[in-house]
Amino acid sequence: MKQNKLFELRRPIVFAHRGASAYAPENTLSAFELAIKQGAPAIELDATLTKDQMVVVFHDSSTERICGYKGKINQMTLAEIKKLDAGSYFDPSFKGERIPTLEEVFDLVGDQLLINIELKNYLTPFDSLPQLVASLVRKWGLQTNVLISSFNPIAVWKIKKLLPETPIALLALDGNSGWLARSRIGEILKYQAIHLHYSDVDANSIAYHHAKGHLVSVYTVNEATLLRSLFERGVDGIFTDDPILAQDQLYTEEKQAKE
Ligand code: G3P
Ligand code: MG
Repeated sequence: MKQNKLFELRRPIVFAHRGASAYAPENTLSAFELAIKQGAPAIELDATLTKDQMVVVFHDSSTERICGYKGKINQMTLAEIKKLDAGSYFDPSFKGERIPTLEEVFDLVGDQLLINIELKNYLTPFDSLPQLVASLVRKWGLQTNVLISSFNPIAVWKIKKLLPETPIALLALDGNSGWLARSRIGEILKYQAIHLHYSDVDANSIAYHHAKGHLVSVYTVNEATLLRSLFERGVDGIFTDDPILAQDQLYTEEKQAKE
């Protein structure tokens, strides 16, 4: 059986968070295309449902921050969402950039990179997002190219049943809010990876999870010194808006280790 990309890529894996979002509007086709060009081995994206049950790639529940329009993604149809400009907020040169569907991202990226799909159904934890994402992953034959994660344990549980051949990751909020996910109770989900906030990562937590066979990836780090120290601590993956910076720091660290 073909091994999932998560286990094949060289570690630490650099995940371009919402695409190369330091250089292009987040979660857009431009940001994902740039991540590919910048040599990122993996991307992270946020998946959410529209009113007409289409899976789109968007972080917030409201369209206001990105599109300047006060709307709720789950109360708008895909046709309505497609009229919005998701690029100008970042830079006028991206005017006209659209919120992509998950299928449009699959079409662009295909099996070139590992795709971490974060299930974003936090306001509607029992919706059909896991079922719809699972059926799109199967339709595009990407079971061995995706890693699915969520802060929502129900979504993680469901996706595990729907796509048993695909690895899952539990996301943990930082500090006290994330203690349950980081505890043994979170391990009931039998995840392959845990995605932690960088402030919750130390040598002990990494050793603990490695002993259990879990990969440990850390979000979201855009600062050179912190990137280097996390690489030195032995994290398996890092989420960053700036894949160029992360890869530079990684290679610097590798070079120094060889010297
Ligand atoms: O998946 C890592 C990270 O994306 C989780 O937080 O808010 O950026 O989706 P957020
Ligand atoms: Mg995310």
